[in-house]
Amino acid sequence: MNEFHEPVLLNDSITGLNIRPNGVYVDLTFGGGGHSKEIFKNLTDGYLIAFDQDQEALKNGKLNSNRFIMINKNFSHLQTELQRLNFLNVDGIIADLGVSSYQFSDNNRGFSLKYNSVIDMRMDKNSKKDGVFVLNKYNRQELNRIFKEHADFKNPMFIVDAIINYRKKKIINTTFDFKNIFKNFIPEQFENKFFARLFQSIRIEVNNEINVLKSMLNQAQEVLSPKGRLVVISYHSIEDKIVKSFMKYGNFLNSQDKDFFGNKQSPFQVVTKKPIVPSDMEIKLNNKSRSAKLRICEKL
Ligand SMILES: C[S@@+](CC[C@H](N)C(=O)[O-])C[C@H]1O[C@@H](n2cnc3c(N)ncnc32)[C@H](O)[C@@H]1O
Repeated sequence: MNEFHEPVLLNDSITGLNIRPNGVYVDLTFGGGGHSKEIFKNLTDGYLIAFDQDQEALKNGKLNSNRFIMINKNFSHLQTELQRLNFLNVDGIIADLGVSSYQFSDNNRGFSLKYNSVIDMRMDKNSKKDGVFVLNKYNRQELNRIFKEHADFKNPMFIVDAIINYRKKKIINTTFDFKNIFKNFIPEQFENKFFARLFQSIRIEVNNEINVLKSMLNQAQEVLSPKGRLVVISYHSIEDKIVKSFMKYGNFLNSQDKDFFGNKQSPFQVVTKKPIVPSDMEIKLNNKSRSAKLRICEKL
């Protein structure tokens, strides 16, 4: 097992890229480099361009080759960075969304409720907004929106009220402050799931994850060559719905666009009618893979 990050659905995602040995590929989420290393093994004279917005990922085993280019930026810069490098089209793109194990297990970064740390949650440490800001500065409407949109709570006002009452007395600074807000609120057997959903929604807000995902998908469509593959692994239903709709219809509305003559308009052929999920064995070996869903499509 790789302590830094164990790659999820490695074989299926690499097979899904349909790699040509002289092609150009993009790994949008380098993390521990598991997927990148496997892609690179399949290239003889092709290029691999990798993104990660977290400076920590750069410290972890960049590939030593002039056919490998690492970019320490948000993947929402995909198109401009490819233009800067003079790659006008690429043959495949992979995004393994979310958080790496090294980020979760760093007890200074506030991604995990296991450790008592400041609720930072920024993947890019240069960005301005962290979890403390969201929890202490967002007003009622903004908090309500994030718990509804990012965690699917139907009526999150009881959560919002609890946060607002708490912060009238004391700043919400650490993960344990956060847990304290809801002490005696939620039956013990539901606590883990409840906190996981809440925490995920704050992380999504801090990192603007929904907007950058949509922006990246639109850009991926632009830069992929015909027959180029887009491979995405997502870890929660909000991301998965966005990816599914985009691969099927080329939009986020989950509905088919038709042209003037009624012909279906879609930029992709869906390769995975149903998402590929990890086997029981993979989940047993790597519990963090349990919610993964892999979807693949091909540019028409
Ligand atoms: C699940 S991990 C990827 C793991 C990687 N596939 C591996 O096998 O090691 C996600 C990584 O993507 C990065 N990341 C997430 N969202 C990003 C974004 N919008 N732009 C750039 N990097 C991002 C995170 O910092 C994290 O290191």
